[in-house]
Amino acid sequence: LVQALGLTALPRLAGAAAPAAGRARVTLRLSHVVARETPKGLALENFRERVQAASDGAIQVVIHPNSLLYGDEDEMQALQLGAVDMLAPSLSKFGPIGFPEFELFDLPFLFDDTQQVQRVKQGPVGQELLALLARQRLVGLGYLDNGFKHMSANRPLLAPEDFVGLRARIQASRVIAHQMRALGARPVVLSFGETRRALAARVVDGTENPVSNFWTQGMHRVQTDLSLTRHGYLGYCIVVHERFWSHLAPTDRALIQQALAESLAWGNTIAQRANDQDLDALRASGATRVHALDAVQRQRLRHATRGVHEGLAARIGEEWIRRMRGAAL
Ligand code: LMR
Repeated sequence: LVQALGLTALPRLAGAAAPAAGRARVTLRLSHVVARETPKGLALENFRERVQAASDGAIQVVIHPNSLLYGDEDEMQALQLGAVDMLAPSLSKFGPIGFPEFELFDLPFLFDDTQQVQRVKQGPVGQELLALLARQRLVGLGYLDNGFKHMSANRPLLAPEDFVGLRARIQASRVIAHQMRALGARPVVLSFGETRRALAARVVDGTENPVSNFWTQGMHRVQTDLSLTRHGYLGYCIVVHERFWSHLAPTDRALIQQALAESLAWGNTIAQRANDQDLDALRASGATRVHALDAVQRQRLRHATRGVHEGLAARIGEEWIRRMRGAAL
């Protein structure tokens, strides 16, 4: 995928010498739960290269992908304890740790395209959400896109009737749980790293993912049908703990911040392409049937989930929903 996207990229950095062993002054440990070939994996790899080049090897970024070091169940705690320095959890994972406002991004059928999401993130609503993280001494350094999620199972999921009784793996977001219940499914919270296995063992029957996550986890081998519902958005927030951040030398902090801003901007430009290419690969593999939905089918799903917006409004206030909708337009 990296080559296919022309992402051998960073020509500017390509010639940068690898740092001599032991030259690193600062090591930044970064953990995430997806594959290296995903939009998130690629953007973070890009960040690692930029930091290394800009600091001439004095700041080293060590990345642990694919839940190899920490998974959804323990990565936030690891960050709080200082066992890892930087995370890039999906926005859906901030609700359970005390930031239900982040579940605004999970609302079904809220966004039509990622330009709308960018407007929210770059505007006052996005910046206020980042600022909320200070409540738990977290510093939100920026946002990154994956893309729109689709539903998968061992049957097509094209209408609310198709969801009835489906045990659906979800992230620990109350909005996503409500969305699944509104469709007639039974939500089951599982960590991302466990999902493929749980689908294979039929512990759960279906799930929702952007194609990049579906494909790189090999879920096409354990799900016969992917329905292109495009019902919700998946993106990330890059976070560090305030203790780690404040102990960095100001010049190091500025360097990291600059490299990250550039890598996130770059990541946002390749995310859609990465998902499109994975969809082509999925189709070419012939492993999973891919179903397109027409406007009427999507409208029925949208209608079935409309109560989810009111559900979140009751928890965080109507004003947030109103501002979120306004910011997207
Ligand atoms: C999920 O748990 O489905 C996603 O948050 C995984 C990820 O980080 O993209």
